[in-house]
Amino acid sequence: MIGDLKDGVTSSVGSNISKILQGSVTAQDHDGGYVPPGTLNDTACKTDTCCVWSYIAAEIYPFFQETNGTCNQWARRAIRLGFHDAAGWSKPNAAAGNDYGGADGSIALSAEEAGRQENKGLSEIISKVQEWQQKYGVGMADLIQFASNVATVTCPLGPRVRTFVGRIDSTTPAPAGLLPDVFDSADKLICLFADKTISAGQLTALVGAHSTSQQFFVDPSKAGQPQDDTPGVFDTNFYTQHRPGASKLDGVFQFQSDVLLARDTRTKGRWAEFSIFGAPLWGGGYATAYVRLSLLGVNNINNLTECSHVLPKAHTSFP
Ligand code: HEM
Repeated sequence: MIGDLKDGVTSSVGSNISKILQGSVTAQDHDGGYVPPGTLNDTACKTDTCCVWSYIAAEIYPFFQETNGTCNQWARRAIRLGFHDAAGWSKPNAAAGNDYGGADGSIALSAEEAGRQENKGLSEIISKVQEWQQKYGVGMADLIQFASNVATVTCPLGPRVRTFVGRIDSTTPAPAGLLPDVFDSADKLICLFADKTISAGQLTALVGAHSTSQQFFVDPSKAGQPQDDTPGVFDTNFYTQHRPGASKLDGVFQFQSDVLLARDTRTKGRWAEFSIFGAPLWGGGYATAYVRLSLLGVNNINNLTECSHVLPKAHTSFP
């Protein structure tokens, strides 16, 4: 268990999250068809915690979409931003008295953290979330995770990851050295995520976000190259195309870290399952792992509010 759930479940939302984290309840929400009770500044809207989030979703959903229905560079950046904010937490650090970092908004609230080498490529989306925060007056930590989940469901085949708000923001930069490097060994990557309470199988599910990604800084001479042949679609081609023996496609840039995880004995089984059984299996695995990731370092989980029902509808087929 993570956060305050370690000390017990004291609310229905805490109970739901605890079951999601244990895998006994689905981490995906199925389209709620939410209608806001009033306009943004109405009292009716202000008394419903999720109302403002429905207006944010209405603004950022089209912003994340290409005219052909795929998700765009802003969506990719938002997904990566959600990961980079949340991953700045580790269990050993917390046990040593440094229980900070995590999904606390610090990547957009601390210039020091935003400026780190590992966050190269995120400055434009950081400016965007800062602009949205000013406009809507919500918490930064929530906004970053909400934007990541809207971005994910904007991508065709992307899961509708259950979404919670009420995190506490922090301007303290996350401890350094907690993000993975593209040239790390599989062992280092698996240990790094284990320290965040994320298993090897869950790491395998999360790196599938590279199904939609592009690289700009690993090899700047190949800037813009995607990690599978369908960037902008949350499909499982990424897993299939990284399996040992798969032929390398022209114009696709594989990260060494992904190649190693596709082969390691602790991750290759799950990797193969996602490749064989496709988006329905992977979407569920991704959602469960992402709910955990999005709550790292959050110590008021029992007090959160679920706003999954305001997310846009999922695109379950493409084209
Ligand atoms: C083994 C762990 C991981 C490593 C080593 C890694 C590394 C990278 C690297 C090097 C890039 C390219 C940055 C650039 O050159 O522009 C990238 C992009 C990206 N990563 Fe990861 N990543 C990992 C895990 C994850 C996870 C867990 C997520 C999300 C849940 C994620 C989401 C993304 C996305 C969406 C992009 C595309 C950004 C864009 O197109 O602008 N990554 N990652």
